Amino acid sequence: MITANQAQADIMAAVHGAIFPDEPWDLASFASLLAQPGVFGCLDERGGLLLLRVVADEAEIITIGAVTKRRGIGRALLQVGLAQARSQGAEKVHLEVAAGNAPARRLYEAFGFQQAGLRRQYYANGEDAVVMSLTL
Ligand SMILES: CC(C)(COP(=O)(O)OP(=O)(O)OC[C@H]1O[C@@H](n2cnc3c(N)ncnc32)[C@H](O)[C@@H]1OP(=O)(O)O)[C@@H](O)C(=O)NCCC(=O)NCCS
Repeated sequence: MITANQAQADIMAAVHGAIFPDEPWDLASFASLLAQPGVFGCLDERGGLLLLRVVADEAEIITIGAVTKRRGIGRALLQVGLAQARSQGAEKVHLEVAAGNAPARRLYEAFGFQQAGLRRQYYANGEDAVVMSLTL
C-alpha cells in the first residue's frame, strides 16, 4: 500500500480511469484533491485506489476501487482508509454509493456501514444514491 500525494496524481488518474472508464477524473483533478487539507490518498500496488477527506471529526470516502475484483483489494484499501480517518480525528465516516452497486454496498456493510439516507436520482443516469455512514 502506497500513500499518494501530489507526485502520484498521474498514477491515481490512470488507476481511476481503469476502474471508472465512463467517468475518469483527470490528473489535474487528482492533483488539486490531493493538495487539499485533510485529504488522504492511497494506492494498492495490485491496482486499486482510495481517496478520503477528513474535516473536523467527519470523514468522507471520495472514491474507492479495485481494477481486479474480489481479490481483497477493496477490503484492504478500506481498512487503511478507516485507520487513517481515525488517526486524523474522524469519529464518523460517510459515503455515497449507487443504489444498484451491490458489490460496493456489500463491502461497506461488511465494515458496519449503515444506510443513513437516500438521494433520489442523484446520478446523471437517474440512479439513486444511498448515503451510508459508520461511527468509528
Ligand atoms: C466495490 C469494490 C471496490 C470492491 O472491491 P473488491 O476488491 O472487489 O472487494 P474485496 O475482494 O475486497 O471484497 C471484500 C468484501 O466485499 C464484498 N463484495 C465485494 N464484491 C462483491 C460482489 N461482487 N458481490 C457480493 N459481495 C461483494 C464481500 O463482502 C467481500 O468479502 P468476501 O470476498 O469475503 O465475501 C470493487 O467492486 C470496485 O472497484 N467496483 C467498481 C468501483 C466502485 O463501484 N467503487 C465504489 C463506488 S461507491
